[in-house]
Amino acid sequence: MKTKLKTALNIQSISTSTQKRRRIFQLAGLSLAALFCGISAFSSAADPVKIGFLVKQAEEPWFQDEWKYAEQAAREKGFTLVKIGVPNGEKLMSAIDNLGAQKAQGFIVCAPDVKLGSAIERAAKRHQLKVFSVDDQLQDGKGQAITSIPHMGISAYEIGKQVGASLLAEIKTRGWKLQEVGAMRIAFDQLPTARERTMGAVDALKASGFPVANLIDANLVKSDTESAYNAANIVLTKQSSFKHWIIFGMNDEAVLGAVRAAEARKFTQDTMLAIGIGGSKSALNEFAKPKQTGFFGSVLISPKRHGYETSMMMYEWISSNRQPPALTLTSGTLMTRSNQHDVRKQFGL
Ligand code: GLA
Repeated sequence: MKTKLKTALNIQSISTSTQKRRRIFQLAGLSLAALFCGISAFSSAADPVKIGFLVKQAEEPWFQDEWKYAEQAAREKGFTLVKIGVPNGEKLMSAIDNLGAQKAQGFIVCAPDVKLGSAIERAAKRHQLKVFSVDDQLQDGKGQAITSIPHMGISAYEIGKQVGASLLAEIKTRGWKLQEVGAMRIAFDQLPTARERTMGAVDALKASGFPVANLIDANLVKSDTESAYNAANIVLTKQSSFKHWIIFGMNDEAVLGAVRAAEARKFTQDTMLAIGIGGSKSALNEFAKPKQTGFFGSVLISPKRHGYETSMMMYEWISSNRQPPALTLTSGTLMTRSNQHDVRKQFGL
């Protein structure tokens, strides 16, 4: 560029005609513009890295843990992390616009509704933001997973099977008769990962001869503890003949809602058995109670992988153009009151 500019200026010194002079100035102008473009392209590549981390339920401990580990990545790499709670579509879309305006280069997202996938992809393109989904894989208008957006989620069906197998093992230890056990699936089927998790548990139960007629759905309106409490209450009112209940759902918060509803009906830790998925503060608080409750355990999954690794991958994508793998599925381990410290240690938590 400098040579071009020099050449242009040299020509200027030997030219005489006005037309030629005008042409020379034009050339010099172009060269200067190119030089400035070069500088600005260079400076944008060196812009400080800013990454958004958008989560659907900021009040849930799982998402707070994800943020905590994302912050660890931000500290290590020296980028700015912008954490935004996006409880609905409107907040999500304005968060993306906001990131664009702040000159962020990318964001990680767990959307409040996976069907917003195409709108998210379009908004990200419009603002030239890289996008990486976490926890809940985004879908297009046809309900197909958007594979062009890299994703990290849990291996939902396998983890659900682990929940089912763990419930069965504990039923056996307690010597309960399967005919006398009701199995409550806290269902939130509009979210694929929630359906896969709970159907994994159902399949594990069925495969071991659990009576199909004893499998009862409690349908969530929203994915939170209160909604689970209400859904479980309806089931417990309708199905009053079971001596025991086993309870499972998409996460600890859902399972805990059902445990509280069963407690209100005088079921205790001796007559009910619930296993969640997550292992964040909601489960740990339950284990910290002086007496064991109906919440027997939780399959611990890794907020560190979902928060720290996704952020690191996004950072590498932005700074070194290294694209994250299209799909990363993480695993879990059953954590109970008695093994909680060891299992968390194994997970580096
Ligand atoms: C979903 C659930 C969360 C958590 C994550 C884990 O987003 O809503 O509670 O279980 O999956 O990936």
